[in-house]
Amino acid sequence: MGLKFDFNNMFDFNVQGHGVSREEVYEILPQARQAARHLKKIITEPGARVRLNLEWVKLPEQKEEDIAAIEKIARQITKQYENVLFLGIGGSYLGLKAAQDALCAPYYNEFESLRKKSPRIYFEGNNLDPDTLSVLLKNLNPKKTFVIVISKSGETTETKAALILVEAWLKKTVGVKYGRQILAITDPESGSLRKRVQAEQKKDALSFRALPLLKGVGGRFSEFNMGLMHLAIVGVDIRKLFLGAREMLTRCSNEDILKNPAYLYAVLHYILYLKRAKSLAILMPFSQTLKSTADWYVQLLAESLGKKYHREIKVDIDGLESWVASKNDLFNLGRTPVSAAGTNDLHSIQQNNVEGQNNKIVTFIRVEKFKTDLKIPGKGDLLAGKSFCQLMQLAQEATEWALVSQNRPNCTIIIPEVSAYNWGALLFFFQMATAFEGELLNVNAYDQPGVEGYKNYMYYKLGKPGIPPAVTEGIKDKPLIKDPKYIL
Ligand code: PA5
Repeated sequence: MGLKFDFNNMFDFNVQGHGVSREEVYEILPQARQAARHLKKIITEPGARVRLNLEWVKLPEQKEEDIAAIEKIARQITKQYENVLFLGIGGSYLGLKAAQDALCAPYYNEFESLRKKSPRIYFEGNNLDPDTLSVLLKNLNPKKTFVIVISKSGETTETKAALILVEAWLKKTVGVKYGRQILAITDPESGSLRKRVQAEQKKDALSFRALPLLKGVGGRFSEFNMGLMHLAIVGVDIRKLFLGAREMLTRCSNEDILKNPAYLYAVLHYILYLKRAKSLAILMPFSQTLKSTADWYVQLLAESLGKKYHREIKVDIDGLESWVASKNDLFNLGRTPVSAAGTNDLHSIQQNNVEGQNNKIVTFIRVEKFKTDLKIPGKGDLLAGKSFCQLMQLAQEATEWALVSQNRPNCTIIIPEVSAYNWGALLFFFQMATAFEGELLNVNAYDQPGVEGYKNYMYYKLGKPGIPPAVTEGIKDKPLIKDPKYIL
């Protein structure tokens, strides 16, 4: 049994004027069909997929021998090391963390019985906060720690800084052959990390082993690529994950928009965004283990659809399509994603969801069956004899009702259980929905130019050579004004 999608509370028959009417859905169908045709055209053309960064749709079709090769290296690491330290940020981290929390036992690192002989997992290089990394390096044994650095560009400051430090830490105890304890997941040809891999392997073939990041797959769409080594190390069944993703891709390729869960999700959000100003997208799984999947989704939605310019589609004389930012066609829009979790956030953001500005849509994730259940003992108390699963599901239903009673649109994704199969399907659903919404909005969902601003400023201040003059001028023209009067 697969995922189910309940869109009833997105409609006006449940939330009055804050919902979509059936007429509005029918009105938009021609535009949606056109968007679906365009997406299909790209997805079915191998060259276009890679060029336009949609190769991620093919990730769940990776060859058995490639999966087996990853699993072989994972077994070697698992056998030899007590800890694996992953370094990466953004798309090179969030999918792994989401998988760790969803698919491994809670408290995985704390209890050997839960790890089933797999190493402890740590994530770093995802922040410049020195406190976390320094605690880790003070307490981990370098001889028993394997390091996996993930960076497509190899240039990302957070990851690079952490790698430099971790290398020095390894070298001090392990010696010159420390590179044998490092594996890099990076671009197959370009980037400074790839260059480093090539240089190290020339000196010692066992040093800085590497796995390629596939061409035409951006970070936030690449959990099924860069996340595979992590999944193999912690013992998740990659084949089941791929099966779930493939089946979701089939469901989300249905040309009937009203039967396609990802397309209908995108259409309903698109209408409510543009016509009812529902600009906040709150993802609220009723499951603690899916909270970091909501964090992963924040990046997916924010970086994919929060854009300054519309997309201009150019077609060359050979009929090859390319996309550029249409600088005369300002967009400056994009729904703002928020990650939450039931039931803990019912005692926090829920107040605003129900009574604050009616500018949001909540997507719930409801888990039908948890891995375990706890029955509350005793007699007499209202809660006695009830189970945690029962209460969790009631809380989700109650939250849905509380929103509907105040005409707050929302929808629910129902997952039979949090398994590799269903989690693979869930990620693929969100990716397809985001890709389709990008088509509806006519933006390039696969770049993130807005992320460059802070990077450029840092590089400028750090004195990095080769910054384009236009960038330097832009920074000089817009200095940060720090009037002491307003610093209290
Ligand atoms: O989605 C993306 O492409 C980005 O979020 C990147 O994943 C992130 O910036 C990290 O980049 P890199 O893998 O090059 O270190």
